[in-house]
Amino acid sequence: MLKVKVAPSILSADFAAMGEAIKEIERAGADLVHCDVMDGSFVQPITFGGQMVKNIRKHTSLPLDVHLMIEHPQTQIKFFAEAGADIITVHYEACAKISDSYLRETLQLIKSYGVKCGAVINPDTPAERIYNVLDICDMVLVMSVFPGYGGQKFIPSALGEVKKIRQYAADNAIDGLDIEIDGGVTCSNAEEVRAAGANVLVAGSAVFGAQDKAAAIAAIRGGK
Ligand code: DX5
Ligand code: ZN
Repeated sequence: MLKVKVAPSILSADFAAMGEAIKEIERAGADLVHCDVMDGSFVQPITFGGQMVKNIRKHTSLPLDVHLMIEHPQTQIKFFAEAGADIITVHYEACAKISDSYLRETLQLIKSYGVKCGAVINPDTPAERIYNVLDICDMVLVMSVFPGYGGQKFIPSALGEVKKIRQYAADNAIDGLDIEIDGGVTCSNAEEVRAAGANVLVAGSAVFGAQDKAAAIAAIRGGK
C-alpha cells in the first residue's frame, strides 16, 4: 500500500506572507508543498516562477511538488530544478501540441537533474494518452478541475481516470507509482478519492480556508 500524502496548494495562501504560510502548513502536518506555476498562456493567470520556488525552499524541508501549467515546459525545467524542486510535473496537453515525443523528452530532462518527474492530464484527457510514459514517471497527476484557479468544484469523472491508471500500473508491473489528484479535494470527498487509488491529495482552499489546518490535513489523509 502506498503512503497517503497531503500536498497543500500554496495558490490559496497569501502570496505576500508566503514564508509564514509554508511554516504553518509544515507545522500542521503537510507531506509536500504543492507549487502551482501558471504562465498566463497555458492557463490565463500568472502566478510565479523559479525565484519563488527558490525562496520557498529556504522556509521548509518538505518536498516541493512543482506543478507546471505552462507552454514549452522544456525551457523552464532548469530553473525549477536549480531552485530546489523535488518533483516537477508537466501537462500532457502542453507537450502534445509540440510533438509526440516532447512529453517523454521533458520527463527525461527533469530526471537528468536528479528531480522526480510526473505527467499531468486535464479532466477531459483520457488516461490512455499517458500510458506510454508511465515507465519513466514517478507520479501521475490527474486534474479534477480545469487548471487555472483554486476553489473550483471537484469533477467526479477524474476518479475513473485514476482507477484506469491504477489498474494499468498493476497490470504492467509498474510498482510504486504515485497518483496525485488536484482540484476541489475536500475533507468530505477525500475518502472517495483515496478509494479510487489516488495517494497524493492536493488541497488548496480546503486547507488554507480551514481554521484548524492540522485537522483538515488529517481528515484529507484519513486513516487513524
Ligand atoms: C488549479 C491548481 C490547483 C488548485 C487547487 O489550477 O492546479 O492546485 O490550487 O485548489 P483547490 O484545492 O482549492 O481546488
Ligand atoms: Zn496544482
